[in-house]
Order: sequence, then C-alpha cells, then structure tokens
Amino acid sequence: MCSIPAPSPIPRPLPPPIPIHRRPPSARHCHADTAASEQTMTVCAATAHGLVPSAVTWLSCGGCVSLEITALVSFREAVCHPMGFAPAAALLPLRLACPPRLADAGPMTFARSGAGAGAGAGLGKGGRGRKGSPPCPSSLPGNPGARHDHFVKRPGGDEGGRSVNGAAPAPVPTKAPQRRQRRGPHDVEDEAWGLLRESVVNYCGSPVGTIAACDPNDASPLNYDQVFIRDFVPSGVAFLLEGEYEIVRNFILHTLQLQSWEKTMDCHSPGQGLMPASFKVRVIPLDGDDDATEEVLDPDFGEAAIGRVAPVDSGLWWIILLRAYGKCSGDLSVQERIDVQTGIKMIVKLCLADGFDMFPTLLVTDGSCMIDRRMGIHGHPLEIQALFYSALLCAREMLTPEDGSADLIRALNSRLIALSFHIREHYWLDKRKLNEIYRYKTEEYSYDAVNKFNIYPDQIPPWLVEWIPPKGGYFIGNLQPAHMDFRFFSLGNLWSIVSSLTTSHQSNAILDLVEAKWSDLVAEMPMKICYPALEDQEWKFITGSDPKNTPWSYHNGGSWPTLLWQLTVACIKMNRPEIAAKAVEVAERRIANDKWPEYYDTKRARFIGKQSRLFQTWTIAGFLVAKQLLENPDKSRTLWNNEDEEILNALNLMTDASNLKGRRGRKGLKKTYIV
Ligand code: GLC
Repeated sequence: MCSIPAPSPIPRPLPPPIPIHRRPPSARHCHADTAASEQTMTVCAATAHGLVPSAVTWLSCGGCVSLEITALVSFREAVCHPMGFAPAAALLPLRLACPPRLADAGPMTFARSGAGAGAGAGLGKGGRGRKGSPPCPSSLPGNPGARHDHFVKRPGGDEGGRSVNGAAPAPVPTKAPQRRQRRGPHDVEDEAWGLLRESVVNYCGSPVGTIAACDPNDASPLNYDQVFIRDFVPSGVAFLLEGEYEIVRNFILHTLQLQSWEKTMDCHSPGQGLMPASFKVRVIPLDGDDDATEEVLDPDFGEAAIGRVAPVDSGLWWIILLRAYGKCSGDLSVQERIDVQTGIKMIVKLCLADGFDMFPTLLVTDGSCMIDRRMGIHGHPLEIQALFYSALLCAREMLTPEDGSADLIRALNSRLIALSFHIREHYWLDKRKLNEIYRYKTEEYSYDAVNKFNIYPDQIPPWLVEWIPPKGGYFIGNLQPAHMDFRFFSLGNLWSIVSSLTTSHQSNAILDLVEAKWSDLVAEMPMKICYPALEDQEWKFITGSDPKNTPWSYHNGGSWPTLLWQLTVACIKMNRPEIAAKAVEVAERRIANDKWPEYYDTKRARFIGKQSRLFQTWTIAGFLVAKQLLENPDKSRTLWNNEDEEILNALNLMTDASNLKGRRGRKGLKKTYIV
C-alpha cells in the first residue's frame, strides 16, 4: 500500500505486465473488490524497483479506485528522455496517495496522534517524557491539523482536515504550559524532547516529518502546519543522533516521491528535480463516497508560498540529510536504491544545468533559502553556495558508479573545484582584504584585472570600517558584477566551515570573528541570521518596505535559535566546542520559558520576535542537536565534509595558474577556469 517499499539496491526483473482494469464510473459498492488495491500494490512495488508505468489513468468510483495501465518503462529511461518523462512524472501522485483500504470497509479504528500518542507511538524510544508542554493544535479535538494515523476515515470521528488553500479551522486554544520559574538543564532538554515528539507528523500510520510550529494559541498558522524540508533537517538529525532512524528514512523516501511534481504556476512547471519547500498530509474525501476519506501528501513548490519563492535549498538539504542518514544508521541501502540514485542525479542535474551565468556559483532569485522573503539576496547568496558545495560533495560520495553517470560525475567534480576556488578567493573578507578593496582601481578591462568584478570602493559601508576586527574574517553575503553584499550571514558562514568550503585558516578566522563580535552576533540569544540589519532607505528599497522584516527583526537582523546546531557542528569540527557550549548556555537561560520562539528581535535579541511563532520545531530541534553533539562530539563527524585532497590539489594548481596569469597575461594557460 502506501508504506515504503523494501529497499532494492539491485534492480529486479520486470514484473509481469499488469492487466488493464477498468471500472465503469457509475459502479458503486465495490469495496469488497480488492483488485484495484492489489494493482496499486503491484505498481508501488514496480516503482520501488525503478519502474514506472508509461501511462496510467485513475478511475475512481464510489470510494473505490482502479487503474488503467498501458505499459511499464524504466524510471531511468523516462528521466533520460524528456518527452518520456511527463507520463512518469504524472504518475508520482499515484505513489503518494494512500490506496483506499477496500477490504476493511468495516468500522474504522482511528487512533488520533498527538499529546504523546501519535508521536510516541510512531517512534521507538519514548524515554524522555514531556513535562507540562501543550498539546499540539493538530492533536486537539476538532482541530486536526496535519497528523492522521489512518488512511480511510468515516464521519463521526473527530477528524476534519485542513484545506491546503483554504483557511484552517480555528484552533481550539488550550492551556499554555505551566511556567516553571527555575528549570534545570535536564528539565529543558526533557521538555524539548517531548515537544519534538509531539511535532511528528504521521502519514498512513508512519512518522514522515515534523510540523514547523506547534503553537496551540496560534489562530492563523498559515503554512506553519506543514512539514518544511529545511526545518526538518535538525529534527531528523536529532532523531538520527538518538538512534531513531525510521522517521528520517520515511521522510527521505516520501519527499523523494514529491520531487518534480506536475503542479504548475501560471502554466509553468518547476524544473525537474526540484524538491518542494514543504508538504502537508491532507485528508480528502474519497470520490463519490461521503463516508470515507484518504490521506495524501500535498507538496508546495512555492506556488502557494508567500511571495511565490523557489525552494532552491530543499533538494540540497535533502541530499545532505540522506548522507547523514547513511552515516548514522549504517544503512546504505536507502542511498543505493535506484529511485534514490535517480533523485540525487535529478537534483544535481538541475543545479548543474547551463544557463546564462558566468560564475560557478548558483544563480538564484531572492528568498530561495532560509531567508524566504525579499531581502536583497538574489544572485549568488552565500547560504545557497555553501549548501550547494556540501550537497555536491555528499552526492559524489553516494552516487554509485555506473554507465552513463561518468559525464555527470565529471561535471560535478569540475564544478566543485571552480566553486571552491571562486568562493575562497572572492567572497573572503578580512581587514587586509578590505583595505585592498578600499584602494581598488576601477574600470579595468583585461584578463588579469585585480578588481575583477569592478567593485567601487565607495560601496564599502561605514559600519564595516569600524566593525571588521583585526583578527578574524568571513565570507561576504553575495557577489555580483559591481556589487558586494558585505553583510555577515550566519548560516552561509557556518555551513562553509561544516562543508570545508573554507580553508582551515578561514574556518578559524570565522570563529574568531564570532568570538570577537559576540555581543553583535549572539548577545542574549544565539544567533543573528545576518548582521547588520537594513535600515531606513536601504530597508525601504531592498525589502520593499516589508513590515515583517523591519530592522533587527525576523530575517533582517533577527536572532534564530535554530542556528545553534550549525554553530555547534562548525565549532566541534574546528576543535573549539567551548564557543558552542557558551552559546547553548545563553540559549538555555530563557528559551524554554520563552516557549521556544522562532526568532528574537532587537540588536541584542532581547525580545521574542514581533511575529514569531512559539513552539517552533526547528528551534527545539536545533537546541537538542547542539546538546547532543556537545555531549558526544564524535558524532558530529557524520554531519561534516572533510577537505577533499583532489580538490585541494586542483586548487593549488589553479592558484598557481592564476598567479601566473596575473604576471603573464592569458597566454600559456592551457585550460580556462573562470575565477
Ligand atoms: C519562515 C522561515 C523559513 C522556514 C519557515 C517555516 O518562512 O523564513 O526559513 O522554513 O518559516 O519555519
């Protein structure tokens, strides 16, 4: 049915052809007939082995569904031939929808998840009980939200279902947790575990992700009642580190099935390989049967998101989490599956596709990552580059060599080298480099220009001249022709350390800067998403006067506790865990009493954010991962990428070549790299 098929590293022979099964639309009372569900299972099994029907028609009637299948082709074949892909892509929902349980049309046993039930039941260890935390709105009677534990439901149960585009049913306010004045560190951790488990979303009875926020008093959760791909990463890592692998495995496989969904926006489909920003489990009535419902996974690729932003980071995080799953669990069979290998390749291909761009960095629109609103980060924002680099390294590690993938691996390798050279050279900023930029000559036309991007020194913002410490440095936020975004973006810098996009000297310098600028970047809550905030005219022009991104709020210089986990991995990697430990201590003082806010406002992070959600899952998970890693620093290895010898050698060659080019002009260089 819709459970995840057994892993199949080795392609199995084609199953026998599936006979055409048609049912007249008018037919009713066919619940006893299990033929349709059997066929669904056959198709699911076939797709698990990398096979998809080339054409399938859903025929539904009175609560029963049947299929018309004309042929089976290999999924890889379908992907390789663009014309052949459409039917294959169109099939994907079929693998998502829970086939109706035709055989058990009898009274339904719907077990509601929530306050300890669904989450705890779906997952192995329930060891750390929750104390005094609120039930999630989705688990409250009459307010179902996204968690459902059974596929076919009958009225009379208390399950309603939140419509994806329509308004959510008003949540029933519930008692806020008892505020306890003094909490010990274990109280806070215990509470966090309880909350994290309560945020678990089940699909067809199995855990598949965590809801973005679980604030029982939030009357308009918008899309915070969905599972966001990027938000799930710290949750997934927390479960992996705890030895609970099932939820991550399910998440990986179910989101894979959402990849390249046929949905469109204004008649335009997202590129093949795109992963959604988020998805939700929706309960929909079965066609023609008022009495039964089924669960489906409904993805959002940005076509419903505020601002219609493209989730470029989703696929990159998906690859990173897949590798972490293999490393932590030792189960490599998931990454070896044909469908998973195809998924990795599709993401990589989408990222490596040719465009008009001149740089090895990935060109994206504004709001395509954690900062998913207009914040002037279109172009080549650092966060995307760090994730891109990391995902390419992880993909290379996981791709199984096979005929036909040599070109892709070659392209991937040369991109890794060019990307790392470009970022290390041109994004790096410290006091010495700033002085160099300050003295730049402009309008240089030549291959050996020093000021390659024609940066006008007047762009150097006054705050930076004072701010740059004598010791330490960082990667700037963005680089484009005649434009350097000098803001410090935390996630991009931290993930550059984690992925070894930085040199080891640069990694240490970034951590030196974090220490030197502690009162700006951490202050009363770790850690600023970016520094400094855009103010006055700049805020007006760059954000479009965004009232949510006012100075020192939200994405515009707000403080996001979820960043604790990335900070911790980076610090442990550089053998400086004491920095992360200090930050965790700062967070621990107030984070639980403040009800786990999504973000904090003001220069020193003194206030809970103006529009901040409470009981934000990645705040909870980020804190837990930081704690887990500080307790077991060795486990961080599963999350970082070591410096790659091959890349290092190539970079040395390129640096020499670049110096040579500087001295002799372009002649004499056999291979051209855009640097
Ligand atoms: C906000 C954040 C985004 C996050 C989402 C769900 O939109 O900017 O990064 O994924 O909330 O928590």
